[in-house]
This record gives sequence, structure tokens and C-alpha cells, in this order.
Amino acid sequence: MNVRLSREADRAEMLAIINAAAEAYRGVIPADCWHEPYMPAEELATEIGANVVFWVAEQERQMLGVMGLQDKGDVTLVRHAYVAPAKQRKGVGQALLRHVRALTAKPVLIGTWAAASWAIDFYERNGFALVSDEEKERLLRRYWSIPARQVETSVVTWRRLDLVPGRRAEGHHR
Ligand SMILES: CC(C)(COP(=O)(O)OP(=O)(O)OC[C@H]1O[C@@H](n2cnc3c(N)ncnc32)[C@H](O)[C@@H]1OP(=O)(O)O)[C@@H](O)C(=O)NCCC(=O)NCCS
Repeated sequence: MNVRLSREADRAEMLAIINAAAEAYRGVIPADCWHEPYMPAEELATEIGANVVFWVAEQERQMLGVMGLQDKGDVTLVRHAYVAPAKQRKGVGQALLRHVRALTAKPVLIGTWAAASWAIDFYERNGFALVSDEEKERLLRRYWSIPARQVETSVVTWRRLDLVPGRRAEGHHR
């Protein structure tokens, strides 16, 4: 498996993977947060325009998954992590996460739907921990541009050993 930077010509394949993998959310996330396609082409273009740098995992030229990294000054966000349904639970997500995580020395934050228990499990297995509700609200409002409803229905995970700016030092981390 190879992880490489995405290219303009990858867009259609990336969208196909994102929207197929996002089917996992159907009937799981709140109905008012679901829309179809989950990610329209214009939204992907907007995200790329907002400096989300997408990496793709591939094997023998077949795209297996995508993951974006967005620099936000004092932290880096992992955005839009999706593995093709037939290729899930084979380590592709882990390979992508390890790859992007190693590209930054800043604290890494990842937001996902509170109802996506499998994704939370995936991030926890990879060394990320859920932040408190209070911390989540603060981080989502500071670093993400998402509607209030999505703040309410999301969680944020962060790397246990990272220091999140503004987070009080005592007892929260080693
Ligand atoms: C979450 C996701 C990116 C992980 O990628 P992956 O290649 O499947 O993950 P890995 O193979 O590296 O790790 C697998 C682990 O992730 C968790 N996991 C992934 N998919 C799961 C599922 N459908 N059900 C339960 N656990 C799941 C489990 O802990 C699993 O370990 P296990 O197979 O030993 O139980 C991928 O499953 C996906 O695209 N899911 C749908 C979309 C999504 O939730 N994206 C996250 C957006 S923030």
C-alpha cells in the first residue's frame, strides 16, 4: 500500500470513496444532519480551497481511502477520513492516519459524529482520546467552521500526548 498526495485528477474517485463510506452514517447520525450525496463535488472543492490537503492510500493504482489534513495555526485537524467500504478494517485507515500525523509537530485534533462509535473506536485505538464536552465546544468553535447543530452532535478526539493551546496544564496530560 502506498500513501501519496492527492491530485486534481483524483477528485471523482475521492468523492466516490467518501460518499460510499459515508453510507455508514445513514440512519446513525441525526436525520437532520444527513444529506445526499454526503459530500457534493462543490464541497470537496471548497474544502481543498480552504487548505485541506488530501492524502490517498492506493494499491496497484486502486484508491483505497482518503484523509485530509488542515493546518489551523497552532493545531492541525484531520478532516474527512474515509476508506472504501470493501477495504475497511484492513489497516488502510491506520496507515493513512499514521502518515498524516507524522507530517505535523502540532497537536492533532479530529472531530467526528458522536454517534459514529466505530470511528471513535478507531481513533482511540490509534492513540487519540475524547475531550470533555466543555473542551469540545471550545475547540469546535475555535478551529472548525460547522453549524451549531453539528457542534451539538459531534465529539472531538485529540492525541493524548499533545498539548492543546489554551488547555489548562494541571493534571490533564503528561
Ligand atoms: C473509520 C475508518 C476511516 C477507519 O478506516 P479502516 O481502514 O476501516 O480502519 P483500520 O482497518 O485501520 O482499523 C480498524 C479498526 O477501526 C474500527 N472500525 C473501523 N470500521 C469499523 C466498523 N465498521 N465497525 C466497527 N469498528 C470499526 C475498529 O476498531 C477496527 O478494528 P477491528 O477491525 O479490529 O475491530 C473507515 O472504517 C471508514 O471510512 N468508516 C466510515 C466513515 C467514517 O466513519 N469515517 C470517519 C470520519 S471522521
